[in-house]
Formats: sequence, structure tokens, C-alpha cells
Amino acid sequence: MNFNSELMKELSDCFSPSGRENNVRELIISEIKDYIDEIRVDALGNLIARKKGTGKKVLFSAHMDQIGLIITHVDEKGFLRFSNVGGIHAKEIIGLTMVFDNGLQGVICCEELKDNEKITMSKLYIDVASTDAEFVKNNFRVGDMCVFKSEYYETKDCVVCRAADDRIGCYIQIEAIKNHPATDNDVYYVFSVQEEVGTRGAKTAGYSIDPDIAVALDVTATGDSLDGIKMDVKLGGGAAIKIMDKSMITHSDVKNLLTRLSEENSIQYQYEVLEFGGTDAGPIHLSREGVPSGVISIPTRNLHSAAEIFNKQDVMECIKLLKATASSK
Ligand code: CO
Ligand code: ZN
Repeated sequence: MNFNSELMKELSDCFSPSGRENNVRELIISEIKDYIDEIRVDALGNLIARKKGTGKKVLFSAHMDQIGLIITHVDEKGFLRFSNVGGIHAKEIIGLTMVFDNGLQGVICCEELKDNEKITMSKLYIDVASTDAEFVKNNFRVGDMCVFKSEYYETKDCVVCRAADDRIGCYIQIEAIKNHPATDNDVYYVFSVQEEVGTRGAKTAGYSIDPDIAVALDVTATGDSLDGIKMDVKLGGGAAIKIMDKSMITHSDVKNLLTRLSEENSIQYQYEVLEFGGTDAGPIHLSREGVPSGVISIPTRNLHSAAEIFNKQDVMECIKLLKATASSK
């Protein structure tokens, strides 16, 4: 199996911030519909695809949404004030180009700051490069969302794109569905909504499926760049088996299962402890009477930026581990 660059680019190029996942959901449906036994979209917008079986009920979850910005006010001159949808820091976005669902764009600018004044969201605005305030009023409304505009590209071994978080998790699930292993297990692939604003979609999906075991697929940070995060995970180190983050401590049985499956199938893996953040496994493991849960993480640099970086071989190892988990006893 080779890395399907075309599919990953399509996934990353979809405009689908939290609560507006329809574009990417349509793309995923078109990719998997011929490979699945049952498919439905729940009331919140989660896409739930099932490979039927009579054995253990396994839930996988990757989130469809991406971080973005939302217009809070359009001023008389035609500048847009905004807030964040998901984790975006004001000081990291000045000068970036944002794109809206209708294709219109704007650049993020900052008011003049006094000495030592901190950069906050309230000092920033979007300039949509129009001298026609009427045009701006007619085309940009309070509540409209935008996402980073950036070019997808690859190097020999890595991918650089926006929304690797978590379109790479969606990609891995799509590839696993297309190459689903022979198994009696009853396997649910959830493509969840609104993870970036507080793992909301996974909460209802976990409740409705009521699985025996759950594994989320999501990106994680790395300690291999110069950003000062002290962490063991690195690009090219293989699938990361999460041990703990702020939303969950991985169940010992799940940690042991993922470790054993990696060793039995010669899958390259590394253990991950993330000191911040959470995943869909957070709400799912607390659903109903509790669900033994874990996470297969994709090591990613520059998380929540317009240019997230991950390694293609790590992705291949994650697909192998997901497939082994889907068919595990
Ligand atoms: Co995220
Ligand atoms: Zn994520």
C-alpha cells in the first residue's frame, strides 16, 4: 500500500471548521460507501460507518472538523473582527491568509500596539482587501467562519498541510475501511464533529454505539523540534500509543493490546505522554458505565498551525495497527 497523496490533499483542502463539517463528510461518504455495510449520519452530524460482525464491538473515531476563526463584528470601514473556533493563538496568526466557505479571502492584521502591549485576539482584524464597505457587508456576516489558506505539499518522507489535525486520522480510517481485515468483530468507524471545541460529537457517538473497546485516531505533538516541548515522541518513530493526556489515562488492557499487536505484527511504535490536550477517547471512555479506551496518535509538528507536518511512514504504521486492532480477539 502506498501513501495516497491525492486523497490526503483532498481531505486537507476541504473547508470544514467545527460545526460546519458537511464538505468533508460528503467527501468521506463518497470514498467509503462501496466498502461499508451500514452508514448513517446522527443528529449532531457524526458520520458512523459499520462493518458488521457478531463478535467484539470495536469503535474507532477520528474527527472531521478543523480549527478556524468566526466573525464577531463587521465594522463601518469593512474590517472584520473575529474570535477563534478551537485552539488558535493570536501571536501565531498575524499575516496569514484566511479563506471562507464562499472562497473569499482576507489577511490577518494587527492594530498598532503600545510598548510591551500583548498581542490578543481583540487587537487583530481581517482585511478582506476591499475599499467597498457595502460589498463587505453583503458578503461577510457575523457567524461566518474561515480557515487557514495554505498549500498542501510533500517532501520525500513528509506531508505539510493545514488540518492534518485530524484529516490524517480520517485518512487512516478510510484506508482501513477499504482494506478491512477478515474478522467477526462488529466494527464502527466514527468520523466525529466538533472535536476542536471540546470533543462534543464523540460524546453522543460513544453513547449510541456503546462499544466494548474504543480507539481514537488523532495527531499528537512531538519533542523533536525546537519548540521546547519536553516529550519523547518523534516524527519517523512510528505509531504513537497514547499512555495519557489531559482527557484520559489509557486503560491498561488497551495499552497492552496495542503494544502486543505492534510487536506481533512488526509495527513500529512509540509510547506517548502528552501534557496538554485531549481526544475523542476522552468523552467515549466516560460514556455510560465506562469504555476501555486508547488512542493511536500520529506524531505531528506545528500542531494547530497552517503548516502541520507529519511523516508518511508513521501513517502506514498507524494503518497497520488500526487494522490489527479491528480484527483483535
Ligand atoms: Co486539534
Ligand atoms: Zn485533533
